[in-house]
Amino acid sequence: LARGTAGPDLAGRHVVISAGGTREPLDPVRFLGNRSSGKQGYALARTAAARGARVTLIEANTGLPDPAGVDVVRVGTAVQLREAVLKAAPDADVVVMAAAVADFRPETYATGKIKKKDGQDPEPIVLVRNPDILAEIAADRPRPEQLVVGFAAETDDVLANGRAKLARKGCDLLVVNEVGERKTFGSEENEAVVLGADGSETPVPHGPKEALADTVWDLVVHRLG
Ligand code: CTP
Ligand code: CA
Repeated sequence: LARGTAGPDLAGRHVVISAGGTREPLDPVRFLGNRSSGKQGYALARTAAARGARVTLIEANTGLPDPAGVDVVRVGTAVQLREAVLKAAPDADVVVMAAAVADFRPETYATGKIKKKDGQDPEPIVLVRNPDILAEIAADRPRPEQLVVGFAAETDDVLANGRAKLARKGCDLLVVNEVGERKTFGSEENEAVVLGADGSETPVPHGPKEALADTVWDLVVHRLG
């Protein structure tokens, strides 16, 4: 399908999309974060709305303007993102986890700013695991026919890593990007392979993030039947 020709094939569907990157605070002025721009998640939200879906976009720290006709929920941390996804998921036909979720968060939050102490080395930062939202939602679907889509950025043996991750997460589709110089982060364009739990492999050539988004929705529409 060419871009923009799909028509309202998501009409009557509710899609939940996470976008951006979580920030895990250390103290009132510092956090651990990542370089996700949120642009791919926003492209998914715009294209789903254009195809007739009701869209809930859960965004973490993107700073991007709200897309027209989309319900936007703002979160900061992975724990807040999990709460927002679990709250929106029960009546969703599709959940797409495009957000970069921090794998770890600092074990403790300092309510006052952490200060240097003369002649002393800094305290080590102890990290704890964040919940795996994608695995949780895929394992415990509020509706049996609900579709769950994940994203992964991989290096080295990208496809083998992607296949293993798809199986581990238990999702229906996994969009696998190869990361490297000038690829993916902050860019307007993307290139990926969409792996299906049914064994399918859909390459998406280098192009606008909307084109990748539309391919994801094509695969979703096909699976929703
Ligand atoms: N994800 C999630 N919750 C987490 C971590 C990741 O929901 N705590 C989701 C992401 O939104 C993405 C998918 O899982 O859709 C894959 O993220 P990725 O970081 O590649 O997976 P990890 O299992 O964290 O593997 P890795 O050790 O390679 O980072
Ligand atoms: Ca990770």
